[in-house]
Amino acid sequence: MDGERLVTDLRFPKDFIWGAAASAYQIEGAYNEDGKGTSIWDRFCLTPGNVVNNDTGNVACDHYHRYREDVELMAYLGLQAYRFSISWTRVLPEGKGEVNQAGMDFYHRLVDQLLDVGIAPMVTLYAWDLPQTLQDLGGWANRETVKYFQDYAAILYQALGDRVHLWSTLNEPWVISFGGHYYGLLAPGIKDAEIALLVSHHLLLAHGKAVQTLREIGEERHKTGIILNLTPIHSASEGAEDQEAANRADGYMNRWFLDPIFAGNYPEDMLNWYGDKAPAIEPGDLEMISTGIDYLGVNYYTRLVVETFPGETLLGLRPIPVEGSEYTETNWEVYPQGLHEILIRLKNEYQPASIYITENGANFLDEVDESGQINDIRRIEFLKDHFLQAHRAIEEGVPLLGYFVWSVMDVFEWDSGYSHRYGLIYVDRETLERKVKRSGFWYRKFIQQRMSMSEAQ
Ligand code: FCB
Repeated sequence: MDGERLVTDLRFPKDFIWGAAASAYQIEGAYNEDGKGTSIWDRFCLTPGNVVNNDTGNVACDHYHRYREDVELMAYLGLQAYRFSISWTRVLPEGKGEVNQAGMDFYHRLVDQLLDVGIAPMVTLYAWDLPQTLQDLGGWANRETVKYFQDYAAILYQALGDRVHLWSTLNEPWVISFGGHYYGLLAPGIKDAEIALLVSHHLLLAHGKAVQTLREIGEERHKTGIILNLTPIHSASEGAEDQEAANRADGYMNRWFLDPIFAGNYPEDMLNWYGDKAPAIEPGDLEMISTGIDYLGVNYYTRLVVETFPGETLLGLRPIPVEGSEYTETNWEVYPQGLHEILIRLKNEYQPASIYITENGANFLDEVDESGQINDIRRIEFLKDHFLQAHRAIEEGVPLLGYFVWSVMDVFEWDSGYSHRYGLIYVDRETLERKVKRSGFWYRKFIQQRMSMSEAQ
């Protein structure tokens, strides 16, 4: 792909937003300071073997203390927006009840400083760090958690809504449900398909309720959405069984979330497939879930090629590697055209009012060379190729409004700890010193060029 053409030639819509993202547990650290309560991730990291090298987010990037320096770096990169999440237990240490003002003040300071340097804050209410006290009551498998989430959403909105105009309820409900409750690789580390499916329903319900709450107390100009990880699924062969497997995987990862949000129903084929394991749906739930969003946030990383595999009990399929393809260090296939595919599908099948790419990026081995530079050429190529696909989709009528690179800096990458690096900014794990990578410098120039192009428009 002719990536160079992109840098000089491509025009994006005038108000298109270029940003970068991170999430609370992954970047903040200060896990027990100023009254913060314990989250399921604080707890999960304590069990040896849960996280590579037994890393924890106790310190992470120490962003809680270094946010000023970090926001200055973001301004240096020229970011127009920064997407971050709120730590529920910093604001409500017990998940409900009294607000911990010291914790809330951190977000006031962060938002104010972002606005001071001209960066729009985009707030995600929930990126996986449930208060442990709520987990002890059953976590997302407990329908009451929906109510607590709604209250938490209202508190944040009341505190920050005067300055934050872009809100999202949940980050990747598929990962929360199945990564955390079926595969058990993520907090809270449960391995039970039935619980995972119940969790997915409660998450969607929590999303719908939070949107309604924000609409009731919010202002017109505020935009609220949800963030889904969407994955194009391709069949390993032309054979009927593999094709059915691909359709099932699509139902599992994509349609199970898109259909209720946009059409107010779960996909019939998946309800039948799950049978008794399917969650109990109460009257009114689906209306609540499909209450409507202002935008859809899309996290895009890779595609999956799947084949039928009766040994896998929930879905009867498995992903297979694609010969000849490039893979990242996360072992995800580099497949930029999948971004275009998913965006066109959204436009044709679900017609969201607008879309943001809320995460896209890659984990490659980064090394600091003798001159102290991080020459992450592959990450630059990765971004160029994906930006090109986003541009194609816009030309074909997809209402894409912005793009957030994951991640603004190297952060705690969940069960991979610090062994994975996605950042535009390198973080030295010993000293926590930040160093802009070559991809960061490249992105800076790219944004500058886009800005001058749109001024000339
Ligand atoms: C996504 C998560 C994000 C990050 C990337 C690599 O699933 O939303 O926090 O870990 O993967």
